[in-house]
Amino acid sequence: MKPPSSLDKTSIWADFFQLKEFEKSGLETQKRLADYLRFAWGRECDHILPTESPEERLTLWQREMAEHQANPEPGLVRRDLISRIAERSNHLHDPRYAGHQVAVPFPELAWLQAATSLLNNGMAIDEMGPASSPMEEAVMRSIATYMGLGEHSNGILCHGGTLANTTALLAARQRRFKGNAWKDGTDRGCALLVSDQAHYCVDRAAKVMGWGEAGVIQVPTNESHQMDAKALKTSFDDAVSRGLEVIAVVGSACTTSTGSFDDLDMIADFVETEGLWFHIDGAHGAAQIFSELHRGVLSGMERADSVAMDFHKMLGIPALCTGLFYRNGKDGYAAFSHDASYLYESETEEEWWNFSKRTFECTKRMLSAAVYGIWENHGPALWGSLVEQLISNAQTLADLVEQRPGWELFAQPKSNIVCFRSTRWDNADLRKELIKRGPFYIVKTHFSGQTWLRCTLQNPLTTSEDLLELLDVLEEVGLTLKA
Ligand SMILES: Cc1ncc(COP(=O)(O)O)c(C=O)c1O
Repeated sequence: MKPPSSLDKTSIWADFFQLKEFEKSGLETQKRLADYLRFAWGRECDHILPTESPEERLTLWQREMAEHQANPEPGLVRRDLISRIAERSNHLHDPRYAGHQVAVPFPELAWLQAATSLLNNGMAIDEMGPASSPMEEAVMRSIATYMGLGEHSNGILCHGGTLANTTALLAARQRRFKGNAWKDGTDRGCALLVSDQAHYCVDRAAKVMGWGEAGVIQVPTNESHQMDAKALKTSFDDAVSRGLEVIAVVGSACTTSTGSFDDLDMIADFVETEGLWFHIDGAHGAAQIFSELHRGVLSGMERADSVAMDFHKMLGIPALCTGLFYRNGKDGYAAFSHDASYLYESETEEEWWNFSKRTFECTKRMLSAAVYGIWENHGPALWGSLVEQLISNAQTLADLVEQRPGWELFAQPKSNIVCFRSTRWDNADLRKELIKRGPFYIVKTHFSGQTWLRCTLQNPLTTSEDLLELLDVLEEVGLTLKA
């Protein structure tokens, strides 16, 4: 007798719960990824960023999907899928990558990510993360203390700087209000002060909280893109006189565009006088705390109420993985409040082990594995040396730019971000043509009425020869453009 069709389906999935198949595909994946690293480290690609347009790439994937659906292969996914994805990705493992601020991850962490993907403990509550919850609590307490936030400090891991900044500002809002801002809402016009160079996610957080345009007061910056102390006071007084309830100042450490650090001690003095919450968006630069050479720019961070730090930017951990640290760990419980008897024993108890009490996410990945693994084995030393290499590469590029006539450097880098521009050619065209020619990938930004080329030195394998070649190729491309 023919089995019912639902059993037919069962037999298809059952093929993919076989140990032999698992081991075989694992070995094959390992080999494909090692081949990919060999290709990237060998500087074999013509273009770090594929040159096809989004529409052309969409057409290719759609065509393959149709062809492959008509002609499936045995196996869960086609054997060449990993290679096709790798070939068509942005090759940030190539040492000539100097684009956006995403970590070039320690390759071995791919296996740890594979392990946590397989285990897939969801972390919302301790029962769904009995290993990763205590790992997260242990490592966040330890790093928060290392950062100088004090004996009551603590933190959580979440999926990205945007979410971390939003969560910190929700906690700031709650601390300001005597009632329960989360439950009752806030009917007063709230506002925060942040530099006019800050990442847009701070603006987004305020808008998500319903504060509108008036809720984000952009404080003017000086010529180094740091929040101006006098302007901070003037902006605050002006907001108060307009009847706004200013609850927080957000410091940038550092800015996305140029890698500039606000004077955190200056902001700390100000918030202490005015009784405001001090949050630091350290998504990019807070990582410099691990380097004795480069932590000076973070002086005053230890006085913040909360700090966001992306492990997936300068610290070699695959995206997304962000730490949100609180000087007073109890503040972490202020951001949210839910009666969820299907999850928690009690709505009011803190229960550090039930992480969703402090995170926007309910289910989240086992983010602690990589952070814990590195911290347990190396403490700050590994991250410190990685940060120093990236910043040293940025300084090398800045020195090379300064030595060349026809080029202007924005500033000596305080982080691994370098902005510079040609004084001869249109910089937007220059970048476009550079990417078309290959292999380099760099990005751009716009300030002071001009377009600047922007490099984030994310790959520790980048050499001074690579950087010299980048400038040579830029000039070669420039000569093909109209002056
Ligand atoms: C200063 C700063 N804050 C926040 C973010 C947003 O972080 P994420 O992309 O992890 O959400 C970025 C991203 O580049 C950033 O540079």
